[in-house]
Amino acid sequence: MTDPAFRQFTRRQLTLAMACAAVAPGLALGAAGKPVPSLGQALGPRLPFGMAVTPAQMASSDAALVQHHASIIVAENAMKPSELSPRAEGQYSFEVADAMVNKALELGLKVRGHTLIWHQQTPPWMFLENGQTVSRATLIERMRRYITDVVTHFKGRVYAWDVVNEAFCFGEANVKTDAEGMRMSPWREIIGPEFIDIAFEAASAADPNALLFYNDYETQNADKVKAVSRMVRQLKGRGIKIDGIGHQSHMTVTHPRLSEVEASLIAYAELGVTQQITELDIALNADLTKNQVPRATPRLLALQAQRYADMFRLFLKHRDKLSAVVVWGVDDRQSWLNYWPMRRFEAPLLLDRQQQPKPAFWAVLEVAKAAKTAP
Ligand code: XIL
Repeated sequence: MTDPAFRQFTRRQLTLAMACAAVAPGLALGAAGKPVPSLGQALGPRLPFGMAVTPAQMASSDAALVQHHASIIVAENAMKPSELSPRAEGQYSFEVADAMVNKALELGLKVRGHTLIWHQQTPPWMFLENGQTVSRATLIERMRRYITDVVTHFKGRVYAWDVVNEAFCFGEANVKTDAEGMRMSPWREIIGPEFIDIAFEAASAADPNALLFYNDYETQNADKVKAVSRMVRQLKGRGIKIDGIGHQSHMTVTHPRLSEVEASLIAYAELGVTQQITELDIALNADLTKNQVPRATPRLLALQAQRYADMFRLFLKHRDKLSAVVVWGVDDRQSWLNYWPMRRFEAPLLLDRQQQPKPAFWAVLEVAKAAKTAP
């Protein structure tokens, strides 16, 4: 409390909380009746904090809550190919995403673009030609055109793009891969492994200033570290621009191990790229395939708080390697884990269903404050 920065921060919060009390309940007062501090501000510029959002959230009072805590947003779905070009080659539906992006920019938030090339949420037209599987040459041309058009459209508004998402896969039943562990997606199947080169080349040509990311889940897995590192070295060796690795970081209260996450952050740093935590959430169901948690018990919430605190302590320790931490959603009510991989109760985020801070929120806040005063 003697820190002048903290005194000022409290005053600012009070003013903000009063101004927003009528519109954003989660922003105004916590359960103890005190203003809720901004997590992003506590973390500071050393570790920019972001949230995945929907266009509806950015058009509602939630936008104030997002602005209160975050300095970055990413569209949870609204900027995926199935949303931006649902019908046909060269036809785009930018209105919804534009409104969301422009609102974010007005609020002073930066925008991550997610995602250009993925095996999911890509419109069927992309892979079809006269009712048949599209030819390699046509798919390359369509990919270049899609990336060029979309990146150009958002040029200067989107500061970082997930260019390729989830290209590798290890140890998953029913997923076909090549010898390098590359997923046999339509992109890989039809174009070959060089689809990644082509995607990054097209993105950097369209916006040389955007940061270009390879994004994936389970990036701490040793096989994935090896495969992704190899890919990054190859891209760089061929003179193709890649700026960063995105760690989705969909975790549970028990998985993955902190030591594995740390080892992978250190290993990827060897590649001379930045890293971002792009989709963080920590599920209460330890087993992703089961529905074992009917509600958020105090014990589970405490365990989750511990995990979040451990992770943020690690992220802050390695902040020289990290340029953002983004959580996958605003509050527990709206988290995708309530309906993926099945309909079930989940509460994987920092704000609860009423948008009130959870034990995990306060634990991360403490970690952030401690890091600020540490030498
Ligand atoms: C998820 C969204 O959260 C869901 O709403 C949607 O139904 C499916 O996609 N990895 C990614 C994200 O890169 O795009 C996914 O988002 C979650 C896993």
